[in-house]
Amino acid sequence: MELPPRPTRFDFHGVSMTKYFTENWDSMQNFKTRPDDILIATYPKAGTTWVSYILDLLYFGHPTCPERHMSIPIHERVPFLEISIPSHPSGKDMADHLPTTPRLIKTHLPVQFVPKSFWEQNCRIVYVGRNAKDNAVSYFHFDRMNNAQPEPGDWSTFLQRFMEGNVVFGSWYDHVNGWWEKKQTHSKLHYMFYEDLIEDFGRELDSLCSFLGLSPSAEEKERIATGTKFDNMKQNKMTNYSTVKTMNQNVSPFMRKGKVGDWKNHFTVAQNEQFDEDYRKKMKNPKLQFRTEV
Ligand code: A3P
Repeated sequence: MELPPRPTRFDFHGVSMTKYFTENWDSMQNFKTRPDDILIATYPKAGTTWVSYILDLLYFGHPTCPERHMSIPIHERVPFLEISIPSHPSGKDMADHLPTTPRLIKTHLPVQFVPKSFWEQNCRIVYVGRNAKDNAVSYFHFDRMNNAQPEPGDWSTFLQRFMEGNVVFGSWYDHVNGWWEKKQTHSKLHYMFYEDLIEDFGRELDSLCSFLGLSPSAEEKERIATGTKFDNMKQNKMTNYSTVKTMNQNVSPFMRKGKVGDWKNHFTVAQNEQFDEDYRKKMKNPKLQFRTEV
């Protein structure tokens, strides 16, 4: 199958985007939520798939839905709201047609772009943040392997653009801060960190369950912990994105490393110093702290 050319980035209301996330804009903005819908919101490469699968197993992991787990890839179980790629159903249409309750929906939108219905219906939202350095590295490799994303260029060019917010979905700094601010007024927003999940999965699962009002048995929690382990998700065709044609996993696997601290294998000393200096200027809120190692 011939792949369409890689898209280019352009400024969209102050945020760098590609046509694959803006072409269905008006329809997507009019998405009608239900009060029990759950939105999983992240900056790209912060652990969206991991947390999507955790939620999917929490709600639909019981042995009564084996077909779901054997034959429906995670990106169909948890549709990507704003995506619109020619000859594929849009994320919004997929979300509209989800047969399950609750509906689990994924977005990378900065908070100001989220369809208003999510706020009107006071839906639960799970936000996942990841430290900027590992997030940038993961994004670089993702753009290398995914033809539906613009060319990343070499690492130093990409890192510069990441710092300037000239990557798809815009500035990491604005994204994590914007969602953090929203947490102050939208009580049904659970803000998680990738690093915390790596550090203590059980603790984070308990805290997520308490936000969702769920109380799974110890056995169920064990099943979720095992199913969502990096190596198991990497082997699982329904969670490793091996069914997606635009991704060339020979260039870099979607389930790449799954670690905190891989940035140390990419940043030069000079890049790290420049990054830290710029970071201090942009990240002024002392309450919002990311860890670059655990
Ligand atoms: P790396 O590229 O650093 O390995 P997203 O789902 O938002 O696109 O994020 C993808 C990143 O999350 C990748 O990071 C991927 O390996 C990591 N990831 C996915 N599942 C994971 C898991 N179960 N445990 C740890 N990391 C995971």
